[in-house]
Amino acid sequence: MKILTLDPVDDAMVKQCALILMRAFKQHHPLAWPTLGSAKEELTAFSGEDRIALVAIDSQTQVLGWVGAIRQYAGHAWELHPLAVDPPRQLQGVGSLLVQALLESLSKTKASTLYLLTDDENSQTSLADLNLYPNPMTQLMGITNINHHPFEFYLKLGFCITGVIPDANGPGKPDILMSKSLLKSVTASASDTGHS
Ligand SMILES: CC(C)(COP(=O)(O)OP(=O)(O)OC[C@H]1O[C@@H](n2cnc3c(N)ncnc32)[C@H](O)[C@@H]1OP(=O)(O)O)[C@@H](O)C(=O)NCCC(=O)NCCS
Repeated sequence: MKILTLDPVDDAMVKQCALILMRAFKQHHPLAWPTLGSAKEELTAFSGEDRIALVAIDSQTQVLGWVGAIRQYAGHAWELHPLAVDPPRQLQGVGSLLVQALLESLSKTKASTLYLLTDDENSQTSLADLNLYPNPMTQLMGITNINHHPFEFYLKLGFCITGVIPDANGPGKPDILMSKSLLKSVTASASDTGHS
């Protein structure tokens, strides 16, 4: 497997990435990119300097997945968005490799933080179907995974849960905020204590 930077004028690569975006989000977020056109539009946005998109390909140059990141907070923090692995190639390390490659790319910038928002629109976690007010942090600290929500994937890569937007997608459908430090001092002290 190899990681390349997305070439936004490579129509074949863009189409493969767009199809994967649609397929990967179809089960839990069918309205995110409902058509090939909407998925291609998402990819077109990755031509600017304030964006990074990395693509995982196999030895036959077949795209397996891709990850995007958007420069925010004057470059001090980047938002990971989106991350999609082709469903038949999930749970084979592709997603982890893409995120590691993104972290490596961002380590060459002034960024301190990589963060992301991950929705729970389909009762995939214990935060769903609840009124999280007035103490959302209490529920957040006890979060459990009910149906393959990706927050656990990110925890395994060293992200922390740093917040929640209650009802972001309608009542009982929150959006979960996760962050990972890119600062050498923080990552070194996390590995001292056995955390990645
Ligand atoms: C989430 C996603 C990117 C993960 O990529 P992947 O290539 O399947 O994941 P990996 O094989 O690198 O998994 C790494 C670890 O995370 C775990 N993991 C992956 N997806 C998980 C999930 N949904 N729930 C719980 N654990 C998960 C794996 O079991 C593995 O654990 P291990 O190291 O103990 O064996 C991929 O499943 C995907 O594209 N899902 C649909 C789109 C999506 O949800 N994107 C993220 C939106 S924020």
